[in-house]
Amino acid sequence: MKIYLKCIFYSLGITLFFSTVAVGQNTKVIEVKTKSTSLVYAVDQSKRLIFQYYGKAVDASDNFLRQQAYPKPDTNRDFSYEAYPTFGLGNINEPALSVIHADGSLNTELAFEGEETKSPQPGVSETVILLKDRIYNLTVELHLKAFEEEDVITQWAVIGNQEDGSVQLTRFASSFLPIKAERYYLTHFYGAWAGEMNVTEEKLENGIKVIECKKGVRTTQTENPSFILSVNNPAMENAGDCYGGALAWSGNYRLDFQVDESKRLNITTGINPFLSSWSLKAGERFTTPEMIYTFSSRGRGQVSRNLHDWGRKYGMVGGNKIHDIVLNSWEGAYFTFNENTLTGMMDDAAEMGIETFVLDDGWFGNKYPRNSDHAGLGDWQTNEKKLPRGLDYLIDYAHSKGLKFGLWIEPEMVNPESELAEKHPEWIVQSPGREKIVWRNQLLLDLSNPKVQDFVYSVFDSLLTTHPGIECIKWDANRHVEQAGSTFLPATEQTHFWVSYTEGLYNVYKRIRTKYPDFVIQDCASGGGRLDYGALKYHNEFWTSDNTDPLSRIFIQYGTNLIYPPVGTASHVSTSPNHQTMRVTPLKFRFDVAMTGRLGMELQPKDIQGKDREFAMEAIKNYKQYVRPLITNGDLYRLKSPYDEGGWASQMYVSKENSSVVLFVFSLEPHLRGVFPTVKLNGLDPTKTYQIEEINMNGWSHFWGDGQTFKADYLMNAGLELQIGVQYDSAVFILKEIK
Ligand code: DGJ
Repeated sequence: MKIYLKCIFYSLGITLFFSTVAVGQNTKVIEVKTKSTSLVYAVDQSKRLIFQYYGKAVDASDNFLRQQAYPKPDTNRDFSYEAYPTFGLGNINEPALSVIHADGSLNTELAFEGEETKSPQPGVSETVILLKDRIYNLTVELHLKAFEEEDVITQWAVIGNQEDGSVQLTRFASSFLPIKAERYYLTHFYGAWAGEMNVTEEKLENGIKVIECKKGVRTTQTENPSFILSVNNPAMENAGDCYGGALAWSGNYRLDFQVDESKRLNITTGINPFLSSWSLKAGERFTTPEMIYTFSSRGRGQVSRNLHDWGRKYGMVGGNKIHDIVLNSWEGAYFTFNENTLTGMMDDAAEMGIETFVLDDGWFGNKYPRNSDHAGLGDWQTNEKKLPRGLDYLIDYAHSKGLKFGLWIEPEMVNPESELAEKHPEWIVQSPGREKIVWRNQLLLDLSNPKVQDFVYSVFDSLLTTHPGIECIKWDANRHVEQAGSTFLPATEQTHFWVSYTEGLYNVYKRIRTKYPDFVIQDCASGGGRLDYGALKYHNEFWTSDNTDPLSRIFIQYGTNLIYPPVGTASHVSTSPNHQTMRVTPLKFRFDVAMTGRLGMELQPKDIQGKDREFAMEAIKNYKQYVRPLITNGDLYRLKSPYDEGGWASQMYVSKENSSVVLFVFSLEPHLRGVFPTVKLNGLDPTKTYQIEEINMNGWSHFWGDGQTFKADYLMNAGLELQIGVQYDSAVFILKEIK
């Protein structure tokens, strides 16, 4: 039934006259469901696709069908929120899409054309909603992919141009989500080199809060394209309605959080349109990156667990597989090594129980040897002076010790002092006539150029073809884009550079993954500078930060694991004093912290001798036996935040069947004598009983009940009184179900 409303509104003596508004019932409801969440859209009588709801699962589609819109003052529109708002709708909020049509028109208005839902694989459904401009032959497909068990819904848009000529896309978001609540609290991430993923939470007020990157490459060194949004109250670990979001894109991104005039929060996420208008030729389609969403009414802890489950299964390579313990050569050798240095490191690594040796930077370049970061990038031939018997000698040596061999590359970059820069100056990102801006003495190769894509692919492929014994690659990227410009792209398409670079990178990765589907690749960009689900799709893990100080890592990994899975979080024990912070910490503290993620080492192992070596070997054994299976497939529960007052941090991982647990507790500050933490466990089956045992011990136990059995109910409610108080003291406990 259509209702026609005519209103006269009096306010402060001003009379506002509303024109006649057609407000009617919806004609169709489109529901996307997972185990515990629902996302609902409706099509109204004028064929608009209206956002209705995203949150805890509801079974009330008939109510959404009967729902009616409220008229809006001053306009013949209403307060409905279109699913993918465009400029030209009469909506003054940030649009998801703005287009300059072939005839120059700036307005776009989408109408519902049809919808289809398929199930590409068990546990996954994909709904595609087709929208078309009411006048022009411009279409938008909204893709909504639901992951039943993980409570994740991903969204992206495909924009198609069937107009008579090219259209310009000036804004092309992946997703639009309007949320209605009393208050909004946004948790997001900020940082710098060696200090990534700091956590901050703020209350959103009217206006727009933007999280964005314009750096082109190494886009997550400062902000990260992910967030947690808590409604009505600041986020809590185990209670409250929380949304988690992450954009799968390694280029410039922009996440807008606009609290509008009606106090609704509009979240618009996608590629950053900054200097990036995209000219879409007739007949072409543009696919936006995937935006990953989850919701939980049980706090941000469950948001993280949903994202971890989704990430391990769908968002990264080999996420549910056991990851090797690595010795990486960087902090132990930097650029200064010869064959003996490396074989010596391998001897020690093998003795200590390490599984993969990774040779980091410094192994390549002959005319311009890579003896520092000043030269050699681009010349991926083994340095004959340092390594006269070539890589194969080292690979064979590693294998003879029972180790796998991994290698560092940075194939997107070039030093001006390199044979590659001499041979292909046109491949370098540049702005004609301007001096090139170097950063870490290096320049960027233009991945929008297919020839450069071929080159970057061939760096990877030739290394693996020539040296089939290589079993892991660390892929680094150590600068961003200060000056854009491509000699390949035409003048009219220079704004395509940013998107084309990232798509070029993904093209290379797609080729690599077609030939090497399971090969281990570590994602690194000066540490965590490329930590997003777009890159992770092609990687098995990421180098979390160049900062290996355990205290810093507690904070960095706390932030990282709010969104990204611990199994991918490369976490290495380094030397003391730490090379980045000069902080002195005990070896046990360094190990215990590194064991909360993918354990590795980043030092000269011969420096660890005597009792320390015995401790390290025992810790590595414990990690393999007890901890690693839980980091790989368990559920993370954060018990004490390092950001809270008190000076503690604690977290646990519990197996999916609730049968085993690893508990970590850290003292971050000196505490007064007798000030100890009580740690209450979480996520256990209250009917079960567990035996507790401390591992990685340095003589005495931190718990009076070590070795005894406890009911889950006690562990979760009374908690463990632990004797930890000295700064940088720590404890690790294993709990096993007793039947
Ligand atoms: C930056 C990385 O984050 C480090 O781990 C190391 O690989 C250096 N680059 C090498 O140049």
